[in-house]
Amino acid sequence: MTDYPATARERIWQFGTSHRKMARTGGPVVFDTADGCHLVDSTGRRYIDALSGVWVVNAGHSHPDIVAAMTAQATRLGYALSEEGFANTAAVDLATRLTDAVDGVYDRVYFTTGGSESVEMALRMARLYHSARGKPGKRTVISRQGSYHGTTLFTLGLSSYDIFSRAVGPLPDGLAKVVHPTCADCPLGRSYPGCAVGCAQDLADTIERLGPDTVAAFVAEPVSTSAGVAVPPPEYWPAVREICSRYDVLLVADEVVTGIGRCGDVLATRRFGIEADIVALAKALTSGYAPLGAVLTHRDITTGMPANALLIPGFTFTGHPVACAAATANLDILCRPEVHDGVHRKSARLATALRDRLGGRPHVGGIRVFGLLAAVDLEPPPTVPGRRTPSAAELSQLMTGWLLESGLYTRVVEGCVQLGPPLLAPDDLMDAIADHLASAFDRLAEHLGRIR
Ligand SMILES: Cc1ncc(COP(=O)(O)O)c(C=O)c1O
Repeated sequence: MTDYPATARERIWQFGTSHRKMARTGGPVVFDTADGCHLVDSTGRRYIDALSGVWVVNAGHSHPDIVAAMTAQATRLGYALSEEGFANTAAVDLATRLTDAVDGVYDRVYFTTGGSESVEMALRMARLYHSARGKPGKRTVISRQGSYHGTTLFTLGLSSYDIFSRAVGPLPDGLAKVVHPTCADCPLGRSYPGCAVGCAQDLADTIERLGPDTVAAFVAEPVSTSAGVAVPPPEYWPAVREICSRYDVLLVADEVVTGIGRCGDVLATRRFGIEADIVALAKALTSGYAPLGAVLTHRDITTGMPANALLIPGFTFTGHPVACAAATANLDILCRPEVHDGVHRKSARLATALRDRLGGRPHVGGIRVFGLLAAVDLEPPPTVPGRRTPSAAELSQLMTGWLLESGLYTRVVEGCVQLGPPLLAPDDLMDAIADHLASAFDRLAEHLGRIR
């Protein structure tokens, strides 16, 4: 019988960790099957999927409608070139379904195969838009400290993963960063509401400093998971929208995580009452049944782009028919008012369950929930002179392992437990997730008590 973890270590590059670490923990966990809200690994162990993979499987695993749509499409047309003067019916149907889902506010789509490509293409389109309209000097892209936008050199440069960026640099130039709206730990040292959302003003100041004629776009996630589900104050997004319009800087919403119902609406920007100029989607667009991303342009941008603008070369797999068929079936499942209502209801239940079961427990820090995105901070133990304090990375690894042992899959990254169950999960799964976390925090307290 194949020893899958050992063979995976031998035969597959594991990015985001080291092979030495994998060997030490006996990893990787190799998933084999899944159904609904559960994953099963190659040894038969079953886990609650408390993160929908990585905020991907919004419709849950093995959904029969998506499987049927993909099978039918693969039989009908598995692949055809879908650019340079060609398209396919599945891609056209999906583009129509998607633009309908956003009420036609965004009215044209470019398909990619993932989030990094979506963000990268969105920003290239922003640059093309300006140069096609006679402003070729508008090149710089501004992002926020603490964000993650992808793994191509451009999107990695916009992210705040310096350790990775340094390893593969030099990064492209024409990138700048502003502060993140993390009120719980304000980077400007201010407190809300007296701060007058100085975090948004930092964008205006940065555009002024760089010169408005040089700035093409500002890219940001409506709510950033890499910044620990930091929910901006209500004034933040309207202020950012106004600043971008004032300086003719395109607002690019990275809705790779937050889009397709995760936050209780098709797009999270709608919850903040704003329209972006370009939206990047991926992850849950097919609920993970096939790799697919999309770039949506606002109707004003679509009409503002000269019809003779020469667009850049695209991807071989743009508009992949089977992926598009999966996405159309997925949108039929997820873009329904009762699904969005369910997200709001389960969000409240998850918040209550986490606060009831974890509040006051040792080493539990902040708890933040927005839609079905949640984060629980791990409070590090106080430092004691002469004794080694375990790092956030060490504690995170221990917590991840204990949660897996108890039958719950999620990620704990840099001292933050990330959560995001499938949107169709039964309501009581929220309580079960909180119970698993409570046991893992108890184990952490025991462990830290022993080593002190
Ligand atoms: C906000 C955000 N943008 C972009 C990406 C990149 O997406 P992908 O991994 O599909 O390239 C991610 C990935 O996690 C993300 O969280």
